[in-house]
Amino acid sequence: MMSKIKEITGRLEGLATRKSNLELREITYHVGRPMTIPRRLPSTSLVNEANVLGRDKDKRAILDLLLRNDGSDAGVYSVTPIVGMGGIGKTTLAQLVYNDDSIKDYFDLRAWVCVSDEFDIIRITKTILLSITSEACDMNDLNLLQVKLKEMLSKKKLFLVLDDVWNDNYNDWLTLRSPFDAGEPGSKIIVTTRSSKVSSIMTTAADYSLQCLSEEDSLRMLAHDALEGEDFTGHPDLKDIGLEILKKCDGLPLATKTIGGLLRTKVNRDAWKVILESDIWNLP
Ligand SMILES: Nc1ncnc2c1ncn2[C@@H]1O[C@H](COP(=O)(O)OP(=O)(O)OP(=O)(O)O)[C@@H](O)[C@H]1O
Ligand SMILES: [Mg+2]
Repeated sequence: MMSKIKEITGRLEGLATRKSNLELREITYHVGRPMTIPRRLPSTSLVNEANVLGRDKDKRAILDLLLRNDGSDAGVYSVTPIVGMGGIGKTTLAQLVYNDDSIKDYFDLRAWVCVSDEFDIIRITKTILLSITSEACDMNDLNLLQVKLKEMLSKKKLFLVLDDVWNDNYNDWLTLRSPFDAGEPGSKIIVTTRSSKVSSIMTTAADYSLQCLSEEDSLRMLAHDALEGEDFTGHPDLKDIGLEILKKCDGLPLATKTIGGLLRTKVNRDAWKVILESDIWNLP
């Protein structure tokens, strides 16, 4: 009997190793209804500026690049990639910039496209067209779409955000960008990406490498999300555990935000200690 159990355990361990080597994901089925793997919602251009902390300097630096028209840009438009690890705040920074009044005043047209894993040139072109014309377009022919986009961009200064780009195929990028040449010199494109390879095929100047938030800004973020306050003055007893937790978040806004959400309404040291000492920090 024992040897049978040992054999089954061995086989299960083997399968588990193969599953993890193949990076397969689990789908759990409830009776009669399959559970879908949660997909990330596409980003939008909307942001609540009051909730964004510690990005004034970054925003200023990007605005300076975008509003500069010193004639040194190569070609009609320039592309500035915002590069950094997942959850560091690239999309958030792009949203801040996109909604700034100086951008709205300076550019004739603005468009936001959440690109994500699939670099679908037809979908991206249609979204840009929809943003700048506010009219839905039912064409699916890439040639017709590009001809129309080229027409719409003529003599116009465009500001385009391509958010969350993963495509590193240079030819795909060349195809997507061909109508942009019709725009007015000084048009600008911001790309957000985790990958320096992606940025290297799209950039026309230097990348903007986004850094983690400072401890001070992370602490304000934690107070904002967990305590609905500006800082820890209402809950000074939680500050030292908060700082320990933030050490584990490593200045990554996504981590701080997630923990802030877990701690929301739990305003006692015990609950904060449970999070500090929990297994969630032990990544495989
Ligand atoms: N400066 C900030 N202040 C407050 N919250 C922030 C800040 N930066 C990012 N966040 C929050 O952190 C989370 C992750 O940010 P964001 O989506 O911008 O990251 P990202 O770098 O674009 O990640 P990904 O590579 O996965 O697309 C979001 O919930 C966002 O609201
Ligand atoms: Mg993003």
